[in-house]
Amino acid sequence: MSKIRVAIAGVGNCASSLVQGVEYYRGKESDSYAGLMHPRVGPWGVSDVEFVAAFDVDQRKVGRPLEEAIFAPPNCTRVFQAQIPASGVRVLMGPVLDGVAPHMGDYPESESFRPASIKPVDVAETLKQSRAEVLLCYLPVGSERAVEHYASACLKAGVAMVNCVPVFIASDPTWADRFHKACLPIVGDDIKSQVGATILHRQLARLFTSRGVKVLRTYQLNTGGNTDFLNMLERRRLKSKKRSKTESVQSQLHKPLEAGDIHIGPSDYVPWQKDNKLAFIRLEAQGFGDVPMELELRLSVQDSPNSAGVVIDALRCAKLALERGLGGPLEAACAYFMKHPPRQLSDEEAGRLTDAFIAESAQAISRDRAAGAAVGNR
Ligand SMILES: NC(=O)c1ccc[n+]([C@@H]2O[C@H](COP(=O)([O-])OP(=O)(O)OC[C@H]3O[C@@H](n4cnc5c(N)ncnc54)[C@H](O)[C@@H]3O)[C@@H](O)[C@H]2O)c1
Repeated sequence: MSKIRVAIAGVGNCASSLVQGVEYYRGKESDSYAGLMHPRVGPWGVSDVEFVAAFDVDQRKVGRPLEEAIFAPPNCTRVFQAQIPASGVRVLMGPVLDGVAPHMGDYPESESFRPASIKPVDVAETLKQSRAEVLLCYLPVGSERAVEHYASACLKAGVAMVNCVPVFIASDPTWADRFHKACLPIVGDDIKSQVGATILHRQLARLFTSRGVKVLRTYQLNTGGNTDFLNMLERRRLKSKKRSKTESVQSQLHKPLEAGDIHIGPSDYVPWQKDNKLAFIRLEAQGFGDVPMELELRLSVQDSPNSAGVVIDALRCAKLALERGLGGPLEAACAYFMKHPPRQLSDEEAGRLTDAFIAESAQAISRDRAAGAAVGNR
């Protein structure tokens, strides 16, 4: 059975957790294994992902083997799989464009990006040469031009895309149409972690609403000490992140709250927290007899493995769609795995539809393979 050939744009903390995970789960993909939503998606286990190309711009990562670059500073996520076999993939220089915020230069090297002064490679050409099937986009928030550059390269090279960044590609009708016409699947935008602040906040909003309790006001304040949080100190880069996170919660209420009654977003950078993200969620509401109630929640989680646990499924769904010749945004997968899909669904509905998509696709693929084998035997 063929592997899933994946290219990575942005070898940061999330990429590190994912690459570690692919090795960590090798041979451990039984149903009971912790940390996986789907030990198998169709015929593919976690370790059937094979990295075939990687792009970054940081001088400590470019030119190095992928398995070393994932541990290079400023990456600071937890190391749960230190031994990674040689991949044969060297990190290549991508086009910087708007990937590096100017304020990064004001922070110590160990905490921030340091772009290399090397000519970038041709991304589309590299994707073609590597025979990548899916590009995983892990660029910093606010990298509008850079994400669009990688999305265009996918269209040019005939590569599917999983877009973890809150730059709207799958959820933008024009881009979605381009992927549809090219018969290339896309899962986006802005990855929703396994059990992160967004899914918790959505579930609480839905719970209150479904129990007839009226949410009056809510906030979600997040702090962390990785480069994702440092990057987001630049408020102008945050616009789409705030929109993505806010719409994700608003979509679960009967009636969206007034803008002044909801505040959701990355709130501060605390260097010593490193990849540990803290989320503080508060809901103020009215129950029976308009009697007030309040809820406060504090979540403490390692940010990057929490997203990798979802990306591993998104990649395999993209491969299923490729095998079936489906193009454009995969509606159920986008709604289940991403904060800003083309169409918001409840997490339960999205999960059910995603499972149905996986089962139906796996059947269609094995049917096609059996038919192919029968023709071959004649
Ligand atoms: N739980 C999570 O961690 C989570 C959840 C949702 C969304 N996301 C999003 O996923 C993305 C990746 O997160 P991360 O924590 O890995 O970020 P990160 O800061 O650790 O990594 C970003 C990487 O991109 C590189 N880069 C910058 N410009 C580039 C360019 N033009 N071309 C290629 N590489 C470039 C940087 O050098 C760095 O290695 C972010 O947009 C983040 O908001 C993460």
